[in-house]
Amino acid sequence: MDSILVRGGGELNGVIPIAGAKNACLTLMPATLLTEEPLTLTNAPRLSDIRTMTQLLGSLGAEVASLQDGQVLAMSSHNIHNHTADYDIVRKMRASILVLGPMLARDGHAIVSLPGGCAIGARPVDMHLQALEAMGAELDLRDGYVHARAPGGRLKGAVIEFGFASVGATENALLAATLAKGTTVIKNAAREPEIVDLAQCLRRMGAQIEGEGSSIITIQGVDRLSGATHPVVTDRIELGTYMLAPAICGGTVECLGGRIELVGAFCEKLDAAGVSVEETERGLKVTRKNGRVKAVDVTTEPFPGFPTDLQAQMMALLCTADGTSVLEEKIFENRFMHAPELTRMGARIEVHGGHATVKGVEKLKGARVMATDLRASVSLILAAMAAEGETVVSRVYHLDRGYERVEEKLGACGAHIERIAS
Ligand code: EPZ
Repeated sequence: MDSILVRGGGELNGVIPIAGAKNACLTLMPATLLTEEPLTLTNAPRLSDIRTMTQLLGSLGAEVASLQDGQVLAMSSHNIHNHTADYDIVRKMRASILVLGPMLARDGHAIVSLPGGCAIGARPVDMHLQALEAMGAELDLRDGYVHARAPGGRLKGAVIEFGFASVGATENALLAATLAKGTTVIKNAAREPEIVDLAQCLRRMGAQIEGEGSSIITIQGVDRLSGATHPVVTDRIELGTYMLAPAICGGTVECLGGRIELVGAFCEKLDAAGVSVEETERGLKVTRKNGRVKAVDVTTEPFPGFPTDLQAQMMALLCTADGTSVLEEKIFENRFMHAPELTRMGARIEVHGGHATVKGVEKLKGARVMATDLRASVSLILAAMAAEGETVVSRVYHLDRGYERVEEKLGACGAHIERIAS
């Protein structure tokens, strides 16, 4: 398992290109199952999660060609010969559950392994199943798989109301509703930019959708969808992550492709902490205005609130803030695993349930630390770049799931960071 060595100290100055969104691409790719015509995604990120989804779609019979060094995914699903998403693939990546809705909508039956939990929480899929049952699906849960079928081979439009604005459940329902017979209304729908991007792609394919980005999405089912070419939206989590690099190290970094509307709540917190964000023609330019940043309190919420996927990275910044910050994690039940690792670097953090209290220190100290999940891994790298001395982050396979070429992008701005193969 590879590790990453970081020698801390020094400002960061330069330009970082932001890739297409992992969490948009992972819901756009299953859309290929909704049509027999070619669906091509451009601006695709080069990540291990994308390779896992490619493997899953391939196991169903879809063809996914990765072109232009992985930035273009040319997909075709004219020959789906297998309707079972196997546990061995699904357990590696819970977004695999997103093939359930499209397979049901296309052929009226599907068998998908339950994804199981992961490091940050139990992560059930009850709302995904609730939505599909509302659309007429008959579901039988046995031996760890969902056996699903649509009576008469076709789902029907329904009114679906989620108890929580679940991103994945909204995506599964939206994908399935495009081919259902009749009208579907999704209430308390997730409003994330990745949902908006999916709706825009499906509309290019001929779907009839209104309201994406709001809490109520209405879909008129159609009999068939055509192919399309669609650019994956910019990754707002990668964007926020790299905006924190100059904030924690000092200096000025321009994040190419960044847009304020993707990170509105996050930028409000950066402003309160004393970090300046300037919109340029190419993206967002970030500068730490003076010395230490100020402490700020953060609560994670569904979009447009502060994203849970930037909580770990924000905690790294607040470990060096002047003052005490309180972070409240309201989306996942166990998303503070980066805290003990940051504490090994001299951070002063107390975790009580869903709250973490961070007393800022002048300087963190390099140490050997371990990545526990995707976003925790990159928060350790941010902290390491600002720390005194050397840090070795182990288990960076977590990192490679969601961040392409981290050492290149940060190294180009002056960070002393290298990958140690082992
Ligand atoms: C998506 O996960 C993202 N993953 C996550 O990003 C992100 O943290 C999350 O949305 C919230 O923004 C992808 O898009 C592939 P949810 P998802 O359904 O869809 C509970 C990353 O780092 N829940 O909005 O799983 C669930 O347990 C990843 O890139 C149910 O109880 O998120 C969680 O506590 C991590 N039942 C909360 O809702 C359900 O049926 C939010 O889940 C579904 C979810």
